[in-house]
Amino acid sequence: MNFELNETHKMIRDTARQFAYDELAPSADERDEKEIFPYEQIKKLGELGFMGMMVPEEYGGAGLDTLSYVIAIEELSRVDASCGVIMSVNNSLVCYGLTQHGTEEQKQKFLVPLATGKKLGAFALSEPEAGSDATNQHTIATRDGDHYVLNGIKNWITNGINADYIIVIAQTDPSKGHKGISAFIVEKGMPGFSHGKKERKLGIRSSDTVSLTFENVRVPKENMIGEEGFGFKFAMMTLEGGRIGIASQALGIAQGCLDASLNYSKQRKAFGKPISELQTIQFKLADMATDIEAARLLTYQAAVLKETHQPYAKQAAMAKLWASKTAVKSALEAIQIHGGYGYVREYNVERFLRDAKITEIYEGTSEIQHIVISRTLLKE
Ligand code: CAA
Repeated sequence: MNFELNETHKMIRDTARQFAYDELAPSADERDEKEIFPYEQIKKLGELGFMGMMVPEEYGGAGLDTLSYVIAIEELSRVDASCGVIMSVNNSLVCYGLTQHGTEEQKQKFLVPLATGKKLGAFALSEPEAGSDATNQHTIATRDGDHYVLNGIKNWITNGINADYIIVIAQTDPSKGHKGISAFIVEKGMPGFSHGKKERKLGIRSSDTVSLTFENVRVPKENMIGEEGFGFKFAMMTLEGGRIGIASQALGIAQGCLDASLNYSKQRKAFGKPISELQTIQFKLADMATDIEAARLLTYQAAVLKETHQPYAKQAAMAKLWASKTAVKSALEAIQIHGGYGYVREYNVERFLRDAKITEIYEGTSEIQHIVISRTLLKE
């Protein structure tokens, strides 16, 4: 498998890197501290084509490949993981599913504004009693003439406050278990649809996370994605791609930790020389770099498999599992290298640790990735 970046990939990398440096770095700490959503930054990412990177150009997207998307998320998350996840949800969990399974009408009405960054999307699968056990859906969608009437609660919804369109997974026939689950597009402002208060999170604090409540929300039948009963498979297929996005986010966080550690260790002096000359620090830097490179290769591999229409569930789960573990480990090591300065807010590394932890939880915990990997292995 050839992982050499082509000219387009290099251009995307340079553009994303410059954007992160110019537009994210100056305000990332303040947005984290004050929990401010990056409205301006997301608008500009939309103008750059980063909110619908893999969407064909005819639907307003950038028409790029999955590897371009991975590279962009890594570069942005290297500086600001909150922006990384906002972008990842819009691209992977919303635009990708609509591109693959939306009707022409849904694509024109929802995908075009989402891909051009004029609107923002969210994906609502989790519920108070359906996190890892995603089949245990309690949100009900009951057919009533040309509409479905939605009732229920969704939890932990990234972009939940700011999203204009939300893909909602709900039971249309509870007697059929996961085969009775369907997917709907709910539009902001539909009567009966509301969100709860913003969650106070450990990390990714400039992205918003809320619960969503549906009280007799009437959704036109044209807003159903695919057929009745397609919702669980749709969610699982969507999450497969989403895991590549989160692996890229984790990879970016880990790389950000290495960047900070290299800089700091070259400047900080102890025992009469820069600490980068101490073998104990060099070992840490070498281990971090090796783990990160392995995460990058796994993530690129999953992206290339997806792009070439080969099975990639196992590789996406492996990439997410390894990259998220690497992000947490790299952040801890970066703090250790920075000593007391790493534990306070002067350098970014304590933010990186807080941001890293969620990558082991959302879009399937590490335990879920173990299940996906081992099930695939046992079937091979
Ligand atoms: N593609 C297509 N179909 C799939 C699939 C896939 N990747 N994975 C499963 N399916 C199908 C199966 O084939 C099966 O269909 P059949 O019965 O027709 O064969 C059906 O789905 C049920 O599959 P399982 O029996 O494997 O289901 P399970 O209940 O044993 O659990 C699981 C599977 C992997 C544990 C799954 O529930 C899961 O992934 N859970 C984690 C959910 C998750 O990631 N949540 C994250 C929320 S989104 C989020 O975090 C977004 C955000 O805001 C950042």
